Amino acid sequence: MKLEHAFEAENTEPHAQDSLEKLNRQAVGLDVRFKLATGETTRRIYLDSTASTLRLQIVQDVIDKYQPYYANTHSVVHFGAKLSTCEYAWAHDMVLRFLRADPDAYTAFFTGHGTTAGINRVAQTLRAQRPDRDVVITSVMEHHSNDLPHRKHFAKVVHVPAEAGSTSMGRINLAGLEAALREHGDRVNYVSITGVSNVTGIINPVHEIAELAHRFGTLLVVDGAQMAAHVPVRMSGHDKSDRDIDVFVFSGHKIYAPGSPGVVVARKDLFSGLEPQEVGGGMVDDVWLDRYTPTDTLPDREEAGTPNICGSLGLAAALYALDRVGMDTIFREECALMRHALGRLGETDDIVVYGDTDVDHCQRAGAISFNVRGVHHALTGAVLNDYFNIAVRNECFCAHPYVREMISEVLADELDGLSNDELEELAELQRGMVRASFGIYTTRGDIDALVEALRNISANRDYYAGLYEQNERGDFVHKTFNFDHAQLFSVRGEVDAWLAA
Ligand SMILES: Cc1ncc(COP(=O)(O)O)c(C=O)c1O
Repeated sequence: MKLEHAFEAENTEPHAQDSLEKLNRQAVGLDVRFKLATGETTRRIYLDSTASTLRLQIVQDVIDKYQPYYANTHSVVHFGAKLSTCEYAWAHDMVLRFLRADPDAYTAFFTGHGTTAGINRVAQTLRAQRPDRDVVITSVMEHHSNDLPHRKHFAKVVHVPAEAGSTSMGRINLAGLEAALREHGDRVNYVSITGVSNVTGIINPVHEIAELAHRFGTLLVVDGAQMAAHVPVRMSGHDKSDRDIDVFVFSGHKIYAPGSPGVVVARKDLFSGLEPQEVGGGMVDDVWLDRYTPTDTLPDREEAGTPNICGSLGLAAALYALDRVGMDTIFREECALMRHALGRLGETDDIVVYGDTDVDHCQRAGAISFNVRGVHHALTGAVLNDYFNIAVRNECFCAHPYVREMISEVLADELDGLSNDELEELAELQRGMVRASFGIYTTRGDIDALVEALRNISANRDYYAGLYEQNERGDFVHKTFNFDHAQLFSVRGEVDAWLAA
């Protein structure tokens, strides 16, 4: 298969495959065990990496080893402060290197807990930077975090549809994007598109989108929340500079470093020459009682206050480890896993997989959403957890319009003769899916276990339905089995035990 997103491996480990296996084996939480409704205690299979990945052991080790030296990066004179400041600066360099962003032209800064904070900052800043441009173009595939911030700060947000695809809805429709760019002309501030869908895992052609956006004199922001951990990214240095990405935003907790901040990587000129959105310590050169002068130095001017130093170093450790293995190697492995998963899920008519499943035409990474026909998504999710120890997510994954469209598409296919209103009503009732999502530690065995469990659920749907009651939130609650988390872990319990020891 052609790896559209692969870049030439540079400086990766000579034994990338061995290093990848070493990283996989050591993710924290792979061996965790839970007691099930059947009374058995088994190893949990984690298929919820799109929400948050597990933490790599090396990330934990780096953070633990750093603890004795911890000091604030705003202090300068003592040893701990010097060490912290240097390593924190290196973490920024590592982000730029990981995304192949030219350090002369781009800056990386940490912000908030995840991608959401970064996209809000980008929306505020780009509106202030180019106030006359009051339209943002995004797509119907977006997570709410790459939609609502633009709605809040701009007069108009245009949602470009997905293309028809070979088997079902596919990538963003480039003709639709071009039409929107033409229609809104000079009013478009930027195009903001997800690199990889958090619902279907469909990969968007970000460099083609960049070329289009730049041809119309606008910018490209990539929501990289799901792209960073799965697909090699090259922000700059393309033969045709129009293919470069202007801004890329991602979350540390989705790339093997939970507890780390969100990250914005942007062209320096976009964040220069205007009042930063957040002000406070660390981002000013001088302050008088009646005025202050923000520093021109990036990333400092975008990082007001004491940063999340431990989290940032943990993130840098993850990025360095992944970079040493090579994102092209990781992507190649994942393409094979994705083919296996789509093949296995496609073996039974009882399972409907959403979005284009023809990966030769529409590449995917990270996530697959599906339903067992005739079984509520929340019941499937609950039974997978309680009876099979398989952790998935269900509902609409903060992408309500996209999920609604895909459910309607399948209903329209299956049920002839319904009016649009009837279809909409039915789609609303059935709105929701189950999502299985992968990390570097996900195995074919995990996927096979999922498929066997889904077959079992489909065959025994009435039996399982009888074991649960649906609460007013729509969740399926087991009538007799109860999970008491505090028996395994609680903060209070840990502190009490420590004090008593
Ligand atoms: C595509 C996409 N964008 C944005 C977000 C928001 O990320 P965060 O929760 O880190 O703010 C998510 C989270 O799932 C996502 O999948």
